[in-house]
Amino acid sequence: MNVSWDSWLNLFICLLLCATGALSQDFQLQPLNSSVLQGSDARFNATVHGEWQVMTWHVKGFLVLSVSTRTGFNVTSSSEQFSARYCSNGDVDCVEFTIHNVTRSQAGPVTCIVLGEYGSKTAQLQVQESGTVSIMGGNVTAVQDDQVEFQCMTSGWFPAPNISWSLNGEPASSSLYNTTNTPDGDAFNSTSVLTFQAVRNTTVVCWVTVPTLPNPISSSSFLAVVPKPPNWTVLIAVVVSFGSAGLLVLLIYGIIFCCRRRKEKKSNYQDEMTKRVRTQSQISAVSVPGQRQGQVNAAYVMEGQTNVAPSEHSDSGFSQTNGNELPDVVNSNQRENDYKIAYNTLDEPGFRKHRHVTIV
Ligand SMILES: *[C@@H]1O[C@H](CO)[C@@H](O)[C@H](O)[C@H]1NC(C)=O
Ligand SMILES: *[C@@H]1O[C@H](CO)[C@@H](O)[C@H](O)[C@H]1NC(C)=O
Ligand SMILES: *[C@@H]1O[C@H](CO)[C@@H](O)[C@H](O)[C@H]1NC(C)=O
Ligand SMILES: *[C@@H]1O[C@H](CO)[C@@H](O)[C@H](O)[C@H]1NC(C)=O
Ligand SMILES: *[C@@H]1O[C@H](CO)[C@@H](O)[C@H](O)[C@H]1NC(C)=O
Ligand SMILES: *[C@@H]1O[C@H](CO)[C@@H](O)[C@H](O)[C@H]1NC(C)=O
Repeated sequence: MNVSWDSWLNLFICLLLCATGALSQDFQLQPLNSSVLQGSDARFNATVHGEWQVMTWHVKGFLVLSVSTRTGFNVTSSSEQFSARYCSNGDVDCVEFTIHNVTRSQAGPVTCIVLGEYGSKTAQLQVQESGTVSIMGGNVTAVQDDQVEFQCMTSGWFPAPNISWSLNGEPASSSLYNTTNTPDGDAFNSTSVLTFQAVRNTTVVCWVTVPTLPNPISSSSFLAVVPKPPNWTVLIAVVVSFGSAGLLVLLIYGIIFCCRRRKEKKSNYQDEMTKRVRTQSQISAVSVPGQRQGQVNAAYVMEGQTNVAPSEHSDSGFSQTNGNELPDVVNSNQRENDYKIAYNTLDEPGFRKHRHVTIV
């Protein structure tokens, strides 16, 4: 009997504790953290199981709305911006509280209190803000292969926005850009600098967003790429080097050609000379000394003799001539005529003297 009495007592205590525990735990607020974009609606649900009569909502500590279920569902709010109703699924245990057109100033704790034994629950509201976006400098024209820089300036964003770029619709590598954020009051100004090599005409778009923004806000610019102007220094260098190389080749060729020609001439000349010498010797061999119409060359050949003969005559005069030489004198007379023909143009003193002698 004692045992059963104890167990009955334990059961009673357990039921009591469990019941109170269930009562205090059966009040939930969702979500406990909410981020919304400024201007949109923030919604919180309070689910209360069991009997309750009054519920109040507080934003940043201020009472903004109260709900009474004493006579139906009666809502009292401080402004039209706050409203409450039964949740859309028709569950009478669930109340939906809405802040319409939420502003940054309303960010903070949102508290729901259910009178009775339920106590209070608090959630956090974050309000994000989208601002302005613009690529500085408008459209850009660049020379091919040049480095180009684009600056995307954003202002009035909260929190610090996520900035990305796209080139011709393709996301740009994050290694191509740097972003810096500067707090400006309760928002951020940001500057993102994109640097890349101009290759072709490119549509450059800067995309800026915060998590609650359904679609990023963008700004675009157009990069027109013009072909590289011809590099004149390179061109000139090429022309000059080719030209000088050509000239050098020409010069070398010319020198070689000249040398060859000179050699050929020389050998030709030598050939000619040897030929001539041969012909001359042939001629002299053929021509008889007695022949009158001796060639000029023949006369030259006899020059040594003539030079000797007149000088003898001129130096010694007739005194040296003897009877044996007399026929020779006549002979020489005729010879002298030959010499006269041969040396007509030469003013050799010896010859004149000789000539004089012959006249005498
Ligand atoms: C409370 O709401 C019910 C129905 O929603 C309505 O009939 C009643 O008049 C309201 N009471 C007050 C005091 O506004
Ligand atoms: C939202 O709130 C702002 C500032 O309180 C106000 O200027 C704007 O008109 C409101 N918009 C709507 C749709 O109520
Ligand atoms: C980004 O900043 C870092 C450090 O300041 C620098 O080394 C890097 O070159 C920058 N990159 C671009 C794309 O500007
Ligand atoms: C942020 O940007 C706005 C608009 O461009 C400008 O007026 C303001 O001075 C900037 N603030 C800071 C801290 O740079
Ligand atoms: C920039 O280029 C785009 C595309 O060619 C053109 O539509 C836009 O009008 C240009 N903007 C300016 C400011 O010149
Ligand atoms: C690049 O853009 C410029 C200016 O809009 C245009 O004149 C040119 O034809 C474009 N080049 C190419 C390859 O599309």
